[in-house]
Formats: sequence, C-alpha cells, structure tokens
Amino acid sequence: MNSSIHVMLEVLQERAEKGEEFEIFDVFQRLTMDVITKTAFGIQTDVQKNSKSSLLAATKLIFRTNYNDAVIFIGLAFPLLRKVCLRLQVLIITLLNKGRPPHTMLRAGIKKVIQMRKSIPQAKKNDLLQLMLDSSIVTDTSEMDISKLEAGNTEMEKSVQGEITNKKSRMMSEAEIVASAFAVLLAGYETTSTALAYTAYLLAKHQDVQDNLLQEIKELIERGQKLEYATVNKLPYLDKVLSESMRIHPPVHLFTNRYALEDVQYGDIHIPKGMLIQAPVHLMHHDPEFWSEPEIFDPERFSSKPNTDGVTYLPFGVGPRNCLGMRFAQLEAKLAIAHTINKFCIKLGEKQKDELNILCRLRTLTPKGVYIRLEARNENT
Ligand code: HEM
Repeated sequence: MNSSIHVMLEVLQERAEKGEEFEIFDVFQRLTMDVITKTAFGIQTDVQKNSKSSLLAATKLIFRTNYNDAVIFIGLAFPLLRKVCLRLQVLIITLLNKGRPPHTMLRAGIKKVIQMRKSIPQAKKNDLLQLMLDSSIVTDTSEMDISKLEAGNTEMEKSVQGEITNKKSRMMSEAEIVASAFAVLLAGYETTSTALAYTAYLLAKHQDVQDNLLQEIKELIERGQKLEYATVNKLPYLDKVLSESMRIHPPVHLFTNRYALEDVQYGDIHIPKGMLIQAPVHLMHHDPEFWSEPEIFDPERFSSKPNTDGVTYLPFGVGPRNCLGMRFAQLEAKLAIAHTINKFCIKLGEKQKDELNILCRLRTLTPKGVYIRLEARNENT
C-alpha cells in the first residue's frame, strides 16, 4: 500500500508543478487498482502512470452502467426484456473494449496468475490469492451461530468457530477462487476511489476542515512519527473527516439488502417472508430525523457515536454480511488522504462549479469528475 501511495504522490507532484487543474477521481481509481492488484494478487502493474492501461480501461467499463442508460432503464421497467437488455449491455461494453468482453478478460487474467502460482511454487506470496489457494473452507456450518459474525471482527470469528465440533472442510475450487478474486478486484477498486474523490472534494470546499486535518498530521510528524499503518488509525480527526464524508456521500448506495426470514409487521408496513428489503443508504444518511442539519459537512458530528441504533449509518453495511474490506478500505483511504494533505493544499478547480455532478450507478453513486488544483506545501512550514 505504501509503495502505491508513494507513486500516487509522484503523480500528484507532477500535476502540482504544472499548476493546472485536473480530475482527481481518475488518479484515485489508478491508486486503488494498483493497491488491490498488488495486495490481493501480488501483481505489479503500471496502472498509475500508463494513461492507456488496458486493465483500467476494462474495469472502468464494467462500472459504466448507470440508471440513465436507456438499455438499463428498459430492462428494469420491462422485466420480460431484462435478459435481452443485459445481453445488449454486455455487447456494448465488449465493443467499447475493442471486442474483448471486459469480465472475461479480467477473469482470464486472474486464472493466469493462479496457474502461475500453482506451477511455480517459488511464486508463492503473502497475499489474499495465496490465502485462498492455501485455505480450506467450512462446509458444514449447521452448528455455527453466524448471526454473531461481523467482517473484520476476528475475535468474534474465533469464538464462533470454537463453537463448532466435527466441522467438515475442503479446499476452495478454482472457480470459487476466481469468482472471489474477481469480486475483490472490483470491490477494492471502485468503492475506495469513490470515497477518496468525495473526500478530496469536501476538503477542497471546506478549507477550515483541511487546515484542522493538516494540524493533526503535523502534530503526529512533530512527535517523530510517520504516516503509516500503525499511526493513521490513531488520528481521530482524520477518522471523523472520512466518516462524515461517507455519510454525506456514501459510495455504495444500493447494495445492503436482505431477505426477510419471517413475516414482520412494522406499524402499518407488512413485510412478508421472502421479500427482499433494500436499505436506502443515501436517504438514511440525509434524514433529519437521525442527523441534525444533514446537508452540512461537519466532521465533529462524529465526536460522539451517532445515536442511530447502528442501522442508520451504513456506508459499509451491517451485521454478518457487512463489508469484508472495510478495515482495508479505511486504512487505504486514510493513508492516501493523510499523505496528500501533508504534501499539498487541495483547492477546487474552476471547472468544479459549486456542487458535484453525481452519476447514479447500479450499486454506487459516483462523481462525474472532481476537478481540483494542488498547491505544494512548503516542507518547512
Ligand atoms: C470505501 C470503500 C468501501 C465501501 C464503501 C464498501 C461498501 C460495501 C457495502 C455497503 C457492502 C454490503 C454490506 C452489507 O450488505 O451489509 C459491501 C460488501 C462487500 N465488500 Fe465492500 N466496500 C468498500 C471497500 C471494499 C474493499 C476494499 C473490498 C475488498 C478488498 C470490499 C469487499 C467487499 C465484499 C467481498 C463484500 C461482500 C461481503 C458479503 O457479501 O459477505 N469492499 N461493501
């Protein structure tokens, strides 16, 4: 992660020296792609500096679909046409990717890495792919109370696993590894870069918050510490800024959904067993019933835990199926923000009129572009 952030700082330095405004979401997309390919698959790519990266082009196309697309709109409005619309959508992105279906292309790349790991034992690395290749999965969870689980809570995981006796396990199949790796590649790339783009925009717009953050970073450095894994997680103001940014602009707005396991009656609302309930994350984050003056960017509202029963602040979902990469994403985003603010002052670009243009994609809400200007900070101040 550190080496990728170092490359990003070089890219930003070049942009700052040019003195021109530029679009920073693209820079963050390249960073998160670099981080996920390195940490999950042990692959070194040139994605941050190669403007023509085919890996990035294919991944961007996968996320291209949004509710403004006529094909998607028709598919959603007329369920009978859904299959045809989906095929048409795949055809469109295949043509845009020079005739290569982007999903197939990325899966083929992952398979290649797996084959290499299997055929060259020395190629073994300390990364997610290797963990999956070496891991066994529990196939009989009948004795396991999975309702207690929460991604990232390893203590809880150990205690729940300890409850199982005679558990059956097997190795993950290649198809399972490819599918999981593909999901992690996409999840690790789009979401974190979106969170970073929104945070950069909010910091550019709210110079007072940027100044407070810089102050916190400077104090850490003055204490002789570095911006790294062990320290960024202990910066309370940085944590508040990221939390508030993800409240105002949750990158993933339509992904936290659950099937009702039984009939439920909430006041006038009846939810029958089997119905799929979608959490309207953006609406909940902007509901004045839960947040005072919800449209105001105020990191200090996270000085105390939000009084929300745990289910009205959902940037990473909730419960046993919450975001698997939450801590990874928070660490990556905090490192990227802290290093950027330490080196540069972020200002809004001329093209970036006051409000952001946001595209409503199938799962995410993404900025159409975040135009900023960077001013290098004097190292001695
Ligand atoms: C700021 C960044 C991120 C945001 C906002 C985000 C958000 C989410 C949300 C809302 C969910 C659904 C949770 C639920 O239904 O309760 C989810 C699931 C998931 N996320 Fe993330 N995510 C982020 C980064 C990542 C990263 C970096 C990875 C992988 C390295 C990742 C992997 C996953 C996976 C595998 C799931 C599915 C979990 C399951 O179904 O059990 N996410 N994420």
